[in-house]
Amino acid sequence: MDRLPLFPDTTKVENNVLTIAGQDLNALAKTYGTPLYLYDRATLDNALADYRSALKKHYPGRSEITYAGKAFLCLAIAQWTSMNGLWLDCTGEGELAVAVKAGLERGHVLVHGVNKSPADLRAAFRHAGTIVVDNLTELESLVRLQPNSQLPDPSFPNLWLRLQPGLAVDTHAYTQTGQGGSKFGMTPAEITEAAHVCRQNRLPLTGLHFHQGSQFKDPEPLKAATELAFELAKEIGLPDDWDFCPGGGWGAAYHEDDLPAPPIEAYVKFTASEAVKACQKHGLTLPRLHLEPGRSLVARAGVALYRVGAVKQRGDRTWLLTDGGMADNPRFALYGARYSCLPVTGVERAPAGKFSIAGPYCESGDVILEDLQMPEIQVGELLAVPVSGAYHLSMSSNYNGARRPAVLWLDKGKARLIQRRETGDDLLQRDLGL
Ligand code: LLP
Repeated sequence: MDRLPLFPDTTKVENNVLTIAGQDLNALAKTYGTPLYLYDRATLDNALADYRSALKKHYPGRSEITYAGKAFLCLAIAQWTSMNGLWLDCTGEGELAVAVKAGLERGHVLVHGVNKSPADLRAAFRHAGTIVVDNLTELESLVRLQPNSQLPDPSFPNLWLRLQPGLAVDTHAYTQTGQGGSKFGMTPAEITEAAHVCRQNRLPLTGLHFHQGSQFKDPEPLKAATELAFELAKEIGLPDDWDFCPGGGWGAAYHEDDLPAPPIEAYVKFTASEAVKACQKHGLTLPRLHLEPGRSLVARAGVALYRVGAVKQRGDRTWLLTDGGMADNPRFALYGARYSCLPVTGVERAPAGKFSIAGPYCESGDVILEDLQMPEIQVGELLAVPVSGAYHLSMSSNYNGARRPAVLWLDKGKARLIQRRETGDDLLQRDLGL
């Protein structure tokens, strides 16, 4: 079936029913309710193994993989990160709290953020081994946090400077970050000035970083950005074992028309070989290469299950109305993202036409997908939406009082509840009234 490659690696059709990691999805939905999110551990492990083997094959120097927690962070995922020796990229104090609770070692925690608050910076000082500096004002705040500017402080996190390379990757405008004029990072002139400030104040500047955008499939723009970063590394002078991070952003296939999925190895190979070439050109030592994937690690491991509550025929369109939508997955509303779907039971029924799926929320943009070939779907059926592991729950909301879905971890034939469903009491917990 052409849609199955969008689903986790352990997905099977058994007796015309979809199973993941040996679990009957109907039974899971019955026990835990819907909407329900599933994460398949084997798929997470396999994506990580793809990154590791590609780095080993294509990069002769040291390397690290940093999971970009913004794609989806909860205690279990942070623990998975820690168990696998990954670094974790946290955006500010909130995500750092999860990293700390999961027991990540300080050296494996990295902090990002465009406008880090004083509380973010204090938390980063306590819990992170690396801070990626976004701007000169932030650097001044860091100088003030340095207790004795004459001595390098061994507990001071390493600093990397975030470069705005002036060039983005090809993706939706809202997820482009590297272009000139974007709010992210520093221009080359600001990088030079920031390096000067670090030297003057004996701050441990060890690396350069850029991230040109997310959900790209053509790595070509990384070439010019890498070239610029290495030119700057040479100019500002960094330690021999310096850190270089060209961010994350490698894309995933969301719809059968996007298949085959962009291979992780092609991205790693391109990135690594550009770094090696730039090194040779500028006579620099090979840096420790850090890759910062979010989506390409977790997107395909995640599946969302929804129950159809009503079917409406409106002109040419047949709406399947489900119990979840933009509150747990705002990506159609934000980016016009294109999804696919399979019914959980009777998977192999013949297509009966095009169907659209919308949620229960008070907005016409509350859509999961439009005009997808599906069999005739009845009220009460369970639908499985693949590639739901990245930027769904991390961008979810309580719109219309939506309670965030339960999340299950599927591993070796077992399902474990890693996040319970939110309740009405949870919604009221921080509400103090008059
Ligand atoms: N590093 C930095 C500095 C980032 O800003 C991001 C993503 C990543 C790494 C990881 O990118 P990934 O490998 O996950 O593409 N909400 C959007 C995506 C926003 C990405 C934000 N930054 C979406 O749903 O497509």
